[in-house]
This record gives sequence, structure tokens and C-alpha cells, in this order.
Amino acid sequence: MTPVAGWSGLFDHPDSWAGESAGASLGGLPPSRLWSLQLLNSVVESKDGYTVGHCHRVRDYARYLGEAFGFSGNQLRCLLIAAAFHDIGKIGIVSSILNKVGPLEPFEWQVMYMHPLLGRELWEGAVPGQPEVAEIIHQHHERWDGQGYPRGLAGDEIRIEARILSVVDAYDAMCTDRPYRPALTAAAALDELHAGVGTQFAPEQAAALIDIVEGRSLKAA
Ligand SMILES: [Fe+2]
Ligand SMILES: [Fe+2]
Repeated sequence: MTPVAGWSGLFDHPDSWAGESAGASLGGLPPSRLWSLQLLNSVVESKDGYTVGHCHRVRDYARYLGEAFGFSGNQLRCLLIAAAFHDIGKIGIVSSILNKVGPLEPFEWQVMYMHPLLGRELWEGAVPGQPEVAEIIHQHHERWDGQGYPRGLAGDEIRIEARILSVVDAYDAMCTDRPYRPALTAAAALDELHAGVGTQFAPEQAAALIDIVEGRSLKAA
């Protein structure tokens, strides 16, 4: 899978938000508010130890999958916006937990579990009137088998947009160096995707990403 190349910022690609400008897609927000959100996102990326560009790549993958499932218009826009800002709640999580080398202690997990709700609340405060985006952000760590967080939603309780976001976010994390491990090889990442079908990942959305990664189809659904 080849990510869309040449994106230097979240708001500068003419096709970034399914045919609308970022301001229009975000409810007509003034540029200063947009740049504040992008700045928060950049802080999260550097604070979290992700390689620069994680949010861009997650948005690229989410677009491929969203289009494969027939998304267009507002549904696609909400998916792309949520993908770009999915971890914005990590602004409220201390770096010592985000970048810990080794397993988190139970109390540290309790802190980590807060970031989807923090992200939702931050989004609702910054961009009122986009409840879909807030809900997708809130659900991005839920698992198909109900073992995710923060609410333990399962199966169809999880919005399809969040099922897509969950699998593409995990895939990009597998493919990049993290504080606690180097990037997986392409083959190992694919194995992890297969292993998570029906447990961590929604079967249809994971199968669609596997099809795309294996180069079978960009129209997997
Ligand atoms: Fe997250
Ligand atoms: Fe992420």
C-alpha cells in the first residue's frame, strides 16, 4: 500500500477533506481555530513518540477504507477528520506514560484509558455541532470482541467509522518505530492484522485493509 505522497500539512491538500476546504468541513471554523487544532495535534505527535506523519497516514488509510465501503459526503468527511485528530486527547496524558519502555502498570493503563474521552471532550469544546466526529474519536480504541476501551463496546455497537479507524491506526502503529519496539516487518504486520480479525478488529473492515495491503483491491467491500 502506498500512502498518498506529498502532504505537508493537514489542511493544505486540495482534496484533503472529501472535496471541501478544511474550514467548511469543520463547520466554518475560523483559520485561527483550525491552526490551534493542528498545533495541538503536532504536540501530541511529538509527545507520543510517533514518527511525524502518523495522523496523516492514518487519514490516508482511512480514506482508502472509507471509499472501499462506499463512504462519501459528510460520512467520509467525518471519518477523515476523526482520523486526523483521533489521539488529540493524549495532550492530557503525561509523556512518561505515553513513552514508557515496557508494559504499563494497571494504574498507568487507567490513565491511558482516559484519552479517547478527553479527545471527545476537547473536540466537542473546540468544534460544537460535530457529534459524529466526537463519537468516532471516543470509540477509536474499542475492539470487536468488547475488550477495548473506554466503554467496552462490542461488534455493531461500534460505529463503522471507528471500526475503520481502529484497524488503520493499529496498522500504522505496527509499521512504525515506537518507544517500546521497532517497526514490524511488512510480513509481521500482515500476520498481526490476520491474527486480530474478529477479536481486536471488525472482520469486514480488517479483511478490506488486508486486501488493500496485499494489493488485491482498492475496492474491497
Ligand atoms: Fe488512541
Ligand atoms: Fe494513533
